[in-house]
Amino acid sequence: MVVSASGPWKGGAAQQPGVQTRLLAAKVLAAVIGRGRSLKAELAATLPKLDDGRDRALLEAICFAALRRRTVYEQALRQWLQKPLGPRDGDLMGLLLAGFAQLDALELPAHAALSATVEAVRALGRERQAGLVNAVLRRAQREGFPAARAEDAWPQWLRDQVRRDWPAQADAVFAASLQPAPLWLRVNRQRYSRDAYLEQLRAAGIDAEISALAADAIRLPVAVPVASLPGFGEGAVSVQDLSAQQVADTLAPSPGARVLDACAAPGGKAAHLLERDPALRLLALDVDARRLQRIRETFDRTGVGASAQVRAADAADLDAWWDGEPFDAVLLDAPCSATGVVRRQPDVLLHRRPGDIDALVALQARLLDALWQVVAPGGVLLYATCSILRRENQQQIAAFLARTADARVDGLPEAFGHGDAGTRQRLPGEQGGDGFFHARLVKGR
Ligand SMILES: C[S@@+](CC[C@H](N)C(=O)[O-])C[C@H]1O[C@@H](n2cnc3c(N)ncnc32)[C@H](O)[C@@H]1O
Repeated sequence: MVVSASGPWKGGAAQQPGVQTRLLAAKVLAAVIGRGRSLKAELAATLPKLDDGRDRALLEAICFAALRRRTVYEQALRQWLQKPLGPRDGDLMGLLLAGFAQLDALELPAHAALSATVEAVRALGRERQAGLVNAVLRRAQREGFPAARAEDAWPQWLRDQVRRDWPAQADAVFAASLQPAPLWLRVNRQRYSRDAYLEQLRAAGIDAEISALAADAIRLPVAVPVASLPGFGEGAVSVQDLSAQQVADTLAPSPGARVLDACAAPGGKAAHLLERDPALRLLALDVDARRLQRIRETFDRTGVGASAQVRAADAADLDAWWDGEPFDAVLLDAPCSATGVVRRQPDVLLHRRPGDIDALVALQARLLDALWQVVAPGGVLLYATCSILRRENQQQIAAFLARTADARVDGLPEAFGHGDAGTRQRLPGEQGGDGFFHARLVKGR
């Protein structure tokens, strides 16, 4: 058992696996809720501190459930605590939310959830609050939580925007965004045919089905730890949502084409393109130099990318990276609000501010205008986002077309979601996929 040395744990209680898991979950929640940290980053730093896969799975499940139901739990605490917790009580607050999530969303046996969480309070050195936490958790167990509307999890300004953009679908978007996402796998064509890998899964006793919507996609109705997937470590499969997998179909570069992935980290879509055609001449850029390592790791694990180039650069600053040779195909998987992937990143609802959208829309337009210059005549630029906001998607593309004489949209079929002037938008949960936008732009000769 690996026990973190980083926490101010007291006594021997933290040595118990269940207690350690709750403590670490509380720390993650405190960092995400109290200090504005990203859930993904906190989990990446925290999960390696537990060496048992079941503990890691429990920690993740607690954090996701607590963040999805955060507004309900915070409301209950406002009613149940005589004195609100102070700014120094982040870990205690994290433990309370973790305790609620275990009792409520995860429906764990109450005695285990209660005793491990209360022990965790002691291990934090907050002996005097152990009674209080015990009482609050027992009350939650007795009374349960009030029914809540799914939209209450969204900040009002964002809720209004989704309602304006998708009046008929908004309630379904809010509901789907609170559901855990299914596990989608992408089979590496260099290792297995999809049918052959499906056989491997079934032989391992893992329930799986093929999707007609993307050529390499397999859906697992019940998620399993990736380490239990046959050949995962050797790159036989990757975890990638259906919508993200469809990018390779929409970009569809011709064999051996010169391809730019302008915003490539962590490299999932670039690796997919290379698995389909290792002869592609691919350049992967990302502005965040630290994330380039992630691209290389993705390429190493999947065994592709030996011939690909990876560079740190602001893709919009052509002078910094472009050698003047045009690209047949450009993927602009743009930085966006991530409002389509709330079910995978529930902290998006906590961290987004209205001003973020203005800044993102401006950055996306800057990237579109610059990258259009590197597309060869007759070439294609695929603009993709995991946003569901029209300003970042349909309106962004309409404005681009209005100012770009040699650009036209190549219409995509219904399998990519709701149509609008040739562009396509899937909303969260539709066909089991994440919310995602595709616009295939072709350059006139
Ligand atoms: C949606 S993610 C890309 C995901 C990636 N395509 C994949 O499938 O794994 C957006 C990426 O854009 C990068 N980015 C943001 N601004 C950029 C810029 N000006 N130039 C290049 N990359 C940028 C971010 O660092 C981030 O890694």
